[in-house]
Amino acid sequence: MSAPNPPANPTPAHSRENPEPHEEQNFPSLLLLFLCSVLIFGSALYFQRYSGTFSPLVYNEEVQGSGVAAGTATAVVDPVVMGKRLFVQNCVTCHEVTGLGKPGIYPPLAGSEWVNGNEEAIVRILIHGLGGPVVVNGATFNGAMPSFGPLGSNWKDEKIAYVLTYVRQEWGNKAPPVTAETVARIRASIVARGKAWTAEELAEYHSATK
Ligand code: HEC
Repeated sequence: MSAPNPPANPTPAHSRENPEPHEEQNFPSLLLLFLCSVLIFGSALYFQRYSGTFSPLVYNEEVQGSGVAAGTATAVVDPVVMGKRLFVQNCVTCHEVTGLGKPGIYPPLAGSEWVNGNEEAIVRILIHGLGGPVVVNGATFNGAMPSFGPLGSNWKDEKIAYVLTYVRQEWGNKAPPVTAETVARIRASIVARGKAWTAEELAEYHSATK
């Protein structure tokens, strides 16, 4: 037995090794890294700007100001500003931004004797709604005004007071503000009611101050 012969033509050691590692400019992955950084940085900026310190109070529509001190701030709420916001969100579909309504369909609030008259009537209208024929600025309407109280959107006293205060001083209307206390008092007196008002039922209040 002789020792096995070495391979006839051995591969030289250096050419059997892997190539030396060398730095390679890998453009696609560099670009990806860069984009990720930008995204993360951008998200951080976004949260910094819009998170509102993650305080739930920031989204409380009754809190004004920066929101950082929202829980403690004794922010003064401007009923007209609040009322306008509520009006734009909830009333313009029918009564229009101009307060003019739609002829024959939705009555105007601008110049309306109801809006400018005794608050006892319009507070009731907002709480339970209004149905049946009603005369506004000399024109008769016969539609259905939705309830913003227990039969509808269930607004609390403040919101009803804000929106009425707003409509009573906009478009040339000149009636005094409505307070949440007034809404609370009237609401307490009609808790048992389960349907919309008619203009006829409200006539006693309506005629009281116009
Ligand atoms: C879906 C349409 C609709 C929406 C929304 C609506 N209303 Fe009305 N509103 C009416 C109609 C219709 C009447 C008249 C009802 C009738 O014919 O008996 C009316 C009547 C009124 C009246 C008494 C009549 C007058 O023109 O002065 C007031 C005040 C009033 N709405 C205020 C508001 C306010 C404030 C809001 C928002 C919080 C609001 N309405 C939202 C349809 C609407």
